[in-house]
Amino acid sequence: MIKHADRVYFGGDYNPDQWDEATIDEDMRLFKQAGINLVVLPVFSWAKLEPEENVYRFEWLDRLMDKFAEHDLKVGLATPTTAQPAWLSKKYPEVLPVDKQGRKRTHGMRVFFCVNSPKYRERAAAIAEQMAMRYAHHKNLVLWHVANEYGTYCYCPTCEKKFRVWLKNRYGTIENLNEQWHTAFWGRTVYDFDEIMLPTELNDDNKYYPAVNLDYMRFMTDSTIECFENEAKVLRRYNPDITIQTNISGHIEKLDQFKMTKHMDIVAWDNYPKPTDDKAFVACKHDLMRGLKGGESFMLQEQSPNQQNWQPFSKLKRPGEVRMLSYQAMAHGSDTCLFFQLRQSKAGEEMYHGAVISHAGHGNTRIFRECAQIGSELQKIGDAFIGGKTPARVGILFDWDTWWALEYAASYCLPSKNFNYIKKISKYHKALFDRNIPVDFVSVEADFAKYDLLVAPYLYMMKEGLAEKIYEFVNNGGSFVTTTLAGLVDENNKAVFGEYPGLLRDLLGIWVEETDALYQDEKNGMLMSGGMLSGNHYSCSFQCDRIHARKAQVLGVYEKDFYAKTPCLTVNTYGKGKAYYIGTEPDGSFLSDFLSLLCEEKQITAPYEAAPNVEITKRVTDSGEIVFVLNHNHEPAKVQLREDSFTDLITGQQVTGSTSVPAYDVMVLKKNG
Ligand code: GLA
Ligand code: ZN
Repeated sequence: MIKHADRVYFGGDYNPDQWDEATIDEDMRLFKQAGINLVVLPVFSWAKLEPEENVYRFEWLDRLMDKFAEHDLKVGLATPTTAQPAWLSKKYPEVLPVDKQGRKRTHGMRVFFCVNSPKYRERAAAIAEQMAMRYAHHKNLVLWHVANEYGTYCYCPTCEKKFRVWLKNRYGTIENLNEQWHTAFWGRTVYDFDEIMLPTELNDDNKYYPAVNLDYMRFMTDSTIECFENEAKVLRRYNPDITIQTNISGHIEKLDQFKMTKHMDIVAWDNYPKPTDDKAFVACKHDLMRGLKGGESFMLQEQSPNQQNWQPFSKLKRPGEVRMLSYQAMAHGSDTCLFFQLRQSKAGEEMYHGAVISHAGHGNTRIFRECAQIGSELQKIGDAFIGGKTPARVGILFDWDTWWALEYAASYCLPSKNFNYIKKISKYHKALFDRNIPVDFVSVEADFAKYDLLVAPYLYMMKEGLAEKIYEFVNNGGSFVTTTLAGLVDENNKAVFGEYPGLLRDLLGIWVEETDALYQDEKNGMLMSGGMLSGNHYSCSFQCDRIHARKAQVLGVYEKDFYAKTPCLTVNTYGKGKAYYIGTEPDGSFLSDFLSLLCEEKQITAPYEAAPNVEITKRVTDSGEIVFVLNHNHEPAKVQLREDSFTDLITGQQVTGSTSVPAYDVMVLKKNG
């Protein structure tokens, strides 16, 4: 959690370098009216703060900090290093990135620098130090926010050199690298690390070469961590008591966030759902964010109060939608509710992006009122759920290397190229979400013992030690579920020899002989032939494994094609537990029925029963339990709170038993006693 947080921070990105004094004063008044208690700045102000090398102009920020203090506004200070000044790019062109097409880019944009550039790092650390010297002990400072949305991949000569050193550290000798990358294929043998090139698109081979792409993405994660640490260590030195983070962009696949966030005091992320995104998918991403630091609360760093201008159609958020999304974030573990942006820009690419204060400049707008409502409710809620954890007994295994191996590096050769890891995993999450079963996302490094059910869809990469951990989990009584594509490769994307699914074969009691890819709209059927679902039909798609059950019991068979009547679903008893294998991508109704059964077997339930489309989560703090009830229906709906009694923190009312939640409304309930 954010160190010393005594309230839900409510506010967000503020860019007062665009405004005159009178506008800023008006903002102070409007912020108060909206219940805003935190501003994050100056994300993009490096050029203003350092007009020429080593010449700093902090007076305007000093005055602002005083003004914020006067108005009791807490501050998240951003190091402005996401957008280097033009003079810096001109004077030191090495800071500019080279893109995947091999083009040296010119100055402009933000997050447009080489994370490995020594000059960039030197200048970034210098301005971070200037900020730390001035503000590290400012009484209103509650947060350091380093740069913004890291994620630029660079292919410049500096990166190439560093990549070779990184590879040398990883593989030791060139012989080992040749072996691990299996360079014998297509005559790729190298005799010196200097012969290795970055995977640009200048060369079709490099573009798709699985091993080099996978390592490049790992290297970029490590390089970005260094770049973050380059500033964070300066800030930490001046005041270790201030929380330090950076925000994860929507393109979360680019950097291994399990690794990145180890270096941050708290996870922070930017939630910009597409208007068409299912609420379950939004919840899935929140749960993933909560999982990054093993279940710790996180920060909703950015969301748009209204439209997002970068989509083909800037759909307005519907009445009440921003409130629903805000509470959904908090229900899933966020301790903050922050927006991009507090005031709409006068010009530039984002001038029509939603903001709390629109171009109208006053508070008499639908969105301002909706935000002000959230602000006033959060004042009543106080610190009730800060730091609260979600008790979950189901874990979903998630792994960035697997994501990359499947989607990027191996997209050239998988049976089906139609693969979106997070979307496919989210189907498993949705089946649980729809029944309000709390779910944690867990890394392959996590301790599995706290879970009773571990779901590992598409567990393609079997990292060292992982299979043993899974065997132990099942042996001790856990239920384990995995699917087609599991266990096929090692950490370097090399096929595991012997029968599929490699090291998991004995645990699952099966052998997968071969895999058929289905066309985009092609379906097969699953007929349940054993166990509780016996007789049920479901449909499946994507791909179908031809499975031989050895020790495993067959629970379902395919309905069509030459492999009709052969197993598509199996279970094997191992030690005190069970290991399930799903050889295809089943439809949502199968996942719902099947995972519910597995939960029932383990007596894993939702915190409370509710009508469909009512989302319920629980967060537990040292001082009690908070239950979030989100009615996504546009009519009132019931939740069954049993004999438990609660105080509704928003209305102040006492609630218990069967309770009606108004249409498209939320309740934040504190358990009494
Ligand atoms: C990102 C950035 C912000 C802003 C928003 C717009 O998340 O961090 O600066 O550009 O997108 O949606
Ligand atoms: Zn570079």
